[in-house]
Amino acid sequence: MANGVTMPPMGFGTYRLREGEECRKAVLHALQVGYRLIDTAAMYGNEEDVGWAIRESGIPRKEIFVTTKLWNDDHGYEQALRAFERSEHRLNVEYIDLYLIHWPVMRARDRSWVALERIYRDGRCRAIGVSNYTIKHLEQLSSLAEVMPMVEQIELTPFLQQRDLVDHCRQLGMVLQAYSPLTRAKMFGDKFLVEMSQRLERTPAQILLRWSMQKGFVPLPRSSRPERIEENFRIFDFQLERDDMDRLDSLESNSRVSWDPSGVP
Ligand SMILES: NC(=O)c1ccc[n+]([C@@H]2O[C@H](COP(=O)([O-])OP(=O)(O)OC[C@H]3O[C@@H](n4cnc5c(N)ncnc54)[C@H](OP(=O)(O)O)[C@@H]3O)[C@@H](O)[C@H]2O)c1
Repeated sequence: MANGVTMPPMGFGTYRLREGEECRKAVLHALQVGYRLIDTAAMYGNEEDVGWAIRESGIPRKEIFVTTKLWNDDHGYEQALRAFERSEHRLNVEYIDLYLIHWPVMRARDRSWVALERIYRDGRCRAIGVSNYTIKHLEQLSSLAEVMPMVEQIELTPFLQQRDLVDHCRQLGMVLQAYSPLTRAKMFGDKFLVEMSQRLERTPAQILLRWSMQKGFVPLPRSSRPERIEENFRIFDFQLERDDMDRLDSLESNSRVSWDPSGVP
């Protein structure tokens, strides 16, 4: 990141992992398999379970990168400071690596950003960033920020490449994290992906994750199933050739599986 702090090349997503056993088991398994970045959020209701799994894993804290996010009900300067403390308390993992504004809530987001700058300056997290910000939101933030976000977390897949936004973030020196990198499995039946999967003897999930990493993004796949958690991590032993990257790039169709923030003023 722009401040010299590094993050692993891929993370593990935890949205919709039910609080309690489902989330605990999945995150613990992910850590055992080798994932070292865990992406949670106050909104997911599972920060306590994520923290439990991290402690239970026995892996030294400094080898794991933990992201959590400020939810929409907690915007504002004082509110954001308090929300951060609640996340710290629920996670109970010594420190948070990355704190993100989850959604560009109209008006209130500016004061929240000032709170995140304070949290960062006070050394209470190693990096701060945003999620679901469009170019317009980033331009507006640039005009007031003293510390620019180090990360932007958005939906990114071959079917939704957001090229202008990606270029804009790169010009600002931001790292791009790719959420819903598996299209929530909705595009696994795509003709080209199926053909490529058979030819390369890799699953559609592995191809999508490899594409994401080769684009320079940090994908955050989620699964509740041990065998898929493992499958999604087996992407460090192959590479997509230029032609296949180009073919995947040609699948752009502006298809989203998650939220569209473009209407937020
Ligand atoms: N900042 C934001 O606003 C935002 C928004 C969305 C997501 N995110 C983050 O990004 C993470 C990932 O995104 P996501 O959860 O939306 O979707 P995703 O990772 O694209 O897809 C998850 C879905 O795919 C299935 N799946 C996983 N691996 C598979 C495989 N190998 N084969 C077949 N199916 C597979 C999972 O089912 P099973 O569990 O049954 O395997 C689950 O239903 C989230 O968990 C969250 O941490 C952030």
